[in-house]
Amino acid sequence: MVKAVRVHEHGGPEVLKWEDVEVRDPNEGEIRLKQKAVGLNYLDVYMRQDLFNLSPPLPYTPGMEGAGVVTAVGAGVTSCKVGDVVAYASPQVGSYAEERILPAGLAVPVPSSVDPVEAAAVIFKGLTAYLLIRRAFKVERGHTILVHAAAGGVGYLVCQWANVIGATVIGTVSTREKAVQAKEDGCHHVILYKHENFVDRVMEITSGKGVDVVYDSIGKDTFNGSIACLKKRGYMVIFGFASGEPDPIHVAQLASKPVYYTFSSIRNEDNREELHAAAVELFSNIAKGVLKVRVNHKYPLSQASQAHTAIESRQTTGSVVLIPDEE
Ligand SMILES: NC(=O)c1ccc[n+]([C@@H]2O[C@H](COP(=O)([O-])OP(=O)(O)OC[C@H]3O[C@@H](n4cnc5c(N)ncnc54)[C@H](OP(=O)(O)O)[C@@H]3O)[C@@H](O)[C@H]2O)c1
Repeated sequence: MVKAVRVHEHGGPEVLKWEDVEVRDPNEGEIRLKQKAVGLNYLDVYMRQDLFNLSPPLPYTPGMEGAGVVTAVGAGVTSCKVGDVVAYASPQVGSYAEERILPAGLAVPVPSSVDPVEAAAVIFKGLTAYLLIRRAFKVERGHTILVHAAAGGVGYLVCQWANVIGATVIGTVSTREKAVQAKEDGCHHVILYKHENFVDRVMEITSGKGVDVVYDSIGKDTFNGSIACLKKRGYMVIFGFASGEPDPIHVAQLASKPVYYTFSSIRNEDNREELHAAAVELFSNIAKGVLKVRVNHKYPLSQASQAHTAIESRQTTGSVVLIPDEE
């Protein structure tokens, strides 16, 4: 028996229960992992609340990213061996557990120069950032980009990465403390969107031209403003709904302002080879200091409900990780 966080009903953070679970031996193509750290994602909150049809069937163990030591391998596994330290971003839930079974194909080696806690803190968010800036819209030197929630878990990585590429980065945040972090993470301009009209500020910063792309994970509260911030034929990339789903867009609106509009989700990606290569690049960038991991909040895994309360009430910045109680 090991300990895990289990969800038997949808609701507030209090539905996260700390329970005994059994972990079987790995089947063919699987590994067993003793986890060193588990990353928390806002998606875990949506699932717990049963929003946007994302919840797995009840009961379930939440979580989609983590890192740990391989303790057993199933038949046919050649990509890793017992004792290896690996990290994973999984389309299926199950990471809020001391130990777990994982398809071996999801495991990415963690270089010895990268702390496994940092690996767990960024693999899912970092791959999300990769898809945003390489696939949904390819950020290049000279582009101007707008990133909402720039001090959040995905936001800070997008800002750092786009800055390194050579883009001009505009970030929005809710507080002055978050603004300081966003500046450190490569934002050339930071807008306090609770106090300033972010559309007016973006137009001022871009001399009325607008931005090439908006990365919007807020949804309802920002959507229309985000479209207004775009250049003609700019890209609206939505990848989350922290404030709720936006109102439907009327196609006729595109007649007066033609823009491209897409949703980016790591959960829709099935090119595992590309994601694996992207994770290797992510860890290499961390090892070289090109990307800086911010593990700003650590909670014992058994206290996952407190971590959910914090992220939901916008108190967190950077990455939030859950540490198995024995670690
Ligand atoms: N599509 C994908 O594949 C994918 C993958 C990972 C994450 N996501 C999405 O990316 C977003 C960021 O995820 P994350 O894990 O990195 O979380 P996060 O950014 O660390 O936390 C959410 C942030 O959103 C902002 N926010 C604005 N309005 C909010 C509201 N009404 N309630 C709560 N937060 C609000 C807050 O920043 P301020 O206080 O600065 O406003 C808050 O800190 C989420 O929407 C998540 O669903 C999508």
